[in-house]
Amino acid sequence: MYFGVGPKEHKKDLYGFDREYSELCEAISSQNRLIIVKGLRRTGKTSLLNAVYANLPPGKLFIDAREISGKGSSEVYSHIISRLSAYMQSRNILRNIAGAISSVELGVKVSVQRQTPLLSAMLSEIDTQAGRAKKTFCIFIDEAQMLKQSGFDAFLAFAYDRFKNTKTVLAGSEIGLLDEFAGESSRSPLYGRVKKTIATRKFERMESLDFLRRGFSQAGKKPAEAQIEAAVDGLDGTAGWLSMYGFYALSESHASALAKTRQEGTKIVREEINAFMEQRRVAERQYLTILSALATEPLAWGKIRNYLEIRLGKAVPDSRLFAYLSALESYGLIEKRDGRYFVSDPLIKEAVSGPGR
Ligand SMILES: Nc1ncnc2c1ncn2[C@@H]1O[C@H](COP(=O)(O)OP(=O)(O)OP(=O)(O)O)[C@@H](O)[C@H]1O
Ligand SMILES: [Mg+2]
Repeated sequence: MYFGVGPKEHKKDLYGFDREYSELCEAISSQNRLIIVKGLRRTGKTSLLNAVYANLPPGKLFIDAREISGKGSSEVYSHIISRLSAYMQSRNILRNIAGAISSVELGVKVSVQRQTPLLSAMLSEIDTQAGRAKKTFCIFIDEAQMLKQSGFDAFLAFAYDRFKNTKTVLAGSEIGLLDEFAGESSRSPLYGRVKKTIATRKFERMESLDFLRRGFSQAGKKPAEAQIEAAVDGLDGTAGWLSMYGFYALSESHASALAKTRQEGTKIVREEINAFMEQRRVAERQYLTILSALATEPLAWGKIRNYLEIRLGKAVPDSRLFAYLSALESYGLIEKRDGRYFVSDPLIKEAVSGPGR
C-alpha cells in the first residue's frame, strides 16, 4: 500500500522508485565501499534503505542514528559495538575473537580509549569472514550526519581504507551536514574516498497525481479528479505529504485530510526550522527574512541582498550572505536552480509565513 504514515519496508509499497532501488542494489553489489543516499525531507530515503536492506542476504546491519541516546563518542561507539556484538553472536563469529576480546568487555562497559580498537577488531573479524565466504558485510546508517559530533566519520574513513569486504550506506536529510560527514568537504576524514551518491527526489506533478490515484485504487476508492488535483496543488510532490494525505483521506473527507496534512506537515517543518534557528540565534532575523522572501518568490543573489539590506537597515557582506544561503540550502530549507534561490515545499512556505511565525 502506498498510503501510510511510517517509512515503507518493502519495494512493492514504493511508488516510482525502480531506478533508485536498482541503483542502490547495483551500488552495493559492485565495487563501491561508500554509498550515500540523500534527498530532501520526507522524500523516501529511509523507505528506500529499508526496502533494499530487506532484500539483502545476511551479512548486514542497520543503524538508525536517532536511536543512539547521546551524541558523544562514547555513546556512539558503545551503541555500535553492542549492535555489532549482537550481530556477531547471531552469526557465531564472536567466538573467533573471544581470545582477543573477552565477552565481558563487550557492550557499554568498555572505556572510551578501548572502544576504537575493539570496534576495529570486531569489524576486522567480520570483514575477514565475509572475504573468506566471498561475500560482503553491509552497514546502513540512517541520519548519519548526527554522528558527526562523535567523530565517527574518522572511524568510517579508517574502515573504508582497511576493510575491503565492508560497505557502508549513509543516508540523511540534512543534506549539507551529510555531505560534510560523508567527505564532500576537504576537512572531513572521509574526503577523497570514492563514493556513489543516490538521490531521492520529489515527484513531478504527473507522478504525484498518479501516485494518489493508484494509492486510492489500492484501497478500492476513486475520489473526484478535482480533489486529487487540489491535494497536489496544496502539497506538491513530496511523497511523505502525499502519502499522509492519502492515509487520512481514506477515512475522512478530502478537505479535512488536506487540512490535517498541511497542519501536521507544517508543524514538522516548523520544528525543523526552530532546531535550525536554535544553533543560530544571532542571525535568526536574517535567516527568517531570507526564508520569508524566498517563500514569496524565487530570487537571485543580488535581489536577496537588497531585500535583506532594506529589511535590516544595514549592509550585508557577501561572505555573510553566502554563509546564510549555504546553511539554508544545506538543511534543505531552500533550493537553488538557474542562479535563483527559492522555497518549493508549500509546507515550508506555510511554516515561514503562516500563523505561528
Ligand atoms: N516512493 C514512495 N512511495 C510511497 N510512499 C513513499 C515513498 N517515498 C516516501 N513515502 C512515504 O513518505 C513518508 C516519508 O518517507 P521516509 O520516511 O522514507 O522519507 P525520508 O526521506 O527518510 O524522510 P525524513 O527526511 O523525515 O527522514 C513515509 O510515510 C513513506 O511511507
Ligand atoms: Mg528518514
